[in-house]
Amino acid sequence: MTLEEMIYHRRSCRSFTNHPVEDALLEKIAAFAPKPLYPEIKVHMEIVSRDKVKCICPWTTPQLITVYSEEAPGYLENIGFLFQQMDLYLQMLGLGVCWLGMGRMNPKTTREIAGMKFVIMLAFGYPKGDPLRRNGKDFRRRSMEQITDQADPRLEPARLAPSAVNSQPWYFTHAGDTIHVHCSRKGSPLDAGIALAHLYVANMETFQFFKAGNVAGVPGHSYIGSCRIEPKTEEN
Ligand SMILES: Cc1cc2nc3c(=O)[nH]c(=O)nc-3n(C[C@H](O)[C@H](O)[C@H](O)COP(=O)(O)O)c2cc1C
Repeated sequence: MTLEEMIYHRRSCRSFTNHPVEDALLEKIAAFAPKPLYPEIKVHMEIVSRDKVKCICPWTTPQLITVYSEEAPGYLENIGFLFQQMDLYLQMLGLGVCWLGMGRMNPKTTREIAGMKFVIMLAFGYPKGDPLRRNGKDFRRRSMEQITDQADPRLEPARLAPSAVNSQPWYFTHAGDTIHVHCSRKGSPLDAGIALAHLYVANMETFQFFKAGNVAGVPGHSYIGSCRIEPKTEEN
């Protein structure tokens, strides 16, 4: 399956064999370079062993990917954007993956990284059974009408995106050919970055992200940014 096809089949995995992922595959994962939303924000991703993290869930995998970031404006949506591409990539490789918001670094076994803040981690490993969904109907998500001011099939990949406790805090408004992305103030901009990652992966050739001026606000939401994507045609 392609990275884009993974959008319609991925699922959080919480049941793993205890078999560590081999070095050759770890090297492939470390070499995967997701596209950032904000290339100027410094981030550091690292594959670590279980002893480096603290997590209360019983199924934590032998290896995890952790990510640190500079605390610059937009850093949370940037991390969501980067790491959701990683979530799709790991599942494309046949691994099981779960975002782990409840995971922390273990201060006894890890050093702090100067100028960087630990943000979040992904647990990954060999799944027990097949964690993938059969198709896009197999998702528990809000309807298109609930997430946008105007029905737009281009938003379907974003609608299916994962989020912390399935909160789906994103809302989309339209102005001409521009889609504005807003995030509920009760939610995290990291989740909005995840939804944007699905829009990017589904439209790699045409996706453009930018901050627009004079965007009409949505009550209870913060403006995250805007994007342009071309409707899909036979040619692209
Ligand atoms: C930022 C973030 C943090 C998450 N943290 C956890 C977690 O700590 N533990 C867990 O079991 N699942 C966690 N999840 C997984 C979500 O519960 C899951 O993505 C959501 O319920 C949608 O289900 P799906 O990923 O199977 O589509 C997290 C997801 C995201 C995006």
